[in-house]
Amino acid sequence: MVIVTGANGQLGNAVNLLLAQQGRPHKALAHGDLDIGNFDAVRQAVKSLKPQLVINCAAYNDVDGAESRPNDAIRINGLGVRNLAIACGEQKIPLVHVGTDYVFDGNSSAPYTIADEPCPINAYGKSKLLGEKMLTSLTDQFYLVRTSWVFGEGKTNFLKKLLGWAATQEVLRIVHNQYTGPTSAMDLARAILQLTETGAYGLYHYHNAGFCSRYEWAKFALEKKAWKGTLEAVDMSYFPSPARRPLYTVMDLFPISEMGIEIPTWQEATSKWLTEAT
Ligand SMILES: NC(=O)c1ccc[n+]([C@@H]2O[C@H](COP(=O)([O-])OP(=O)(O)OC[C@H]3O[C@@H](n4cnc5c(N)ncnc54)[C@H](OP(=O)(O)O)[C@@H]3O)[C@@H](O)[C@H]2O)c1
Repeated sequence: MVIVTGANGQLGNAVNLLLAQQGRPHKALAHGDLDIGNFDAVRQAVKSLKPQLVINCAAYNDVDGAESRPNDAIRINGLGVRNLAIACGEQKIPLVHVGTDYVFDGNSSAPYTIADEPCPINAYGKSKLLGEKMLTSLTDQFYLVRTSWVFGEGKTNFLKKLLGWAATQEVLRIVHNQYTGPTSAMDLARAILQLTETGAYGLYHYHNAGFCSRYEWAKFALEKKAWKGTLEAVDMSYFPSPARRPLYTVMDLFPISEMGIEIPTWQEATSKWLTEAT
């Protein structure tokens, strides 16, 4: 049996769907079912349900909110992961956890490899890095998969927002100088399930193949939707926000790229989502 935490989020939904399709018994635990920030509850759930695997899809993802409420982010992204790592470590159960490209400062001009040192520049990135440290120090059997710009079935994502803006506005301004790889939640979920078959614990990077700027991603999606409005490229400084965001967090997908795990391009993944979800 597989436990999925944060089961109502984008990745949680995708993991649940794939597990169901594969006929694998699983327990989907949404935020209301299990708060990963509650140490006793996490320990009790893992002990009593006796899963063979835990996949943590829960996270605090409000990048701007984390600047004014850093402890909310730390409670979930840091201590929540600590709780899961201790509980899984005690029961000798492998734990999958998902990290972020925002652990990097974005000053590189080449894709970040799994050997590159993280250096987060905002509170969200710091809380996620704390989670990585908790995970790697408190259990041996972990898969840590960093990802970026996730889109799937959930409350919100960039593509959903974009289509909402496009429905009501004739001119859209989108940032041209922030780059990474968009990630289909379904492709990520599939990669995670394949990874867990290997027993090769450790750190991985996964986003869809290739990379783009927010502007290029928006242009691609809006052209697919035959939007008739005007798209303008603006600098990130055009939209002042509480959190600084790294400019370039493209990731080098090695070694996943050599493990026979499917990595569709971001264009393929975006087209599929636009066809199926909108
Ligand atoms: N989204 C991105 O662009 C992005 C980029 C890089 C990395 N990531 C990482 O990828 C992973 C999956 O992200 P996602 O896009 O699927 O996130 P998501 O859609 O925001 O889902 C996160 C889920 O976690 C739940 N949650 C929040 N606090 C919780 C708690 N204390 N206990 C249990 N559940 C809790 C949320 O429930 P409620 O909504 O009910 O609170 C939500 O269902 C996360 O680790 C995230 O940090 C995401």
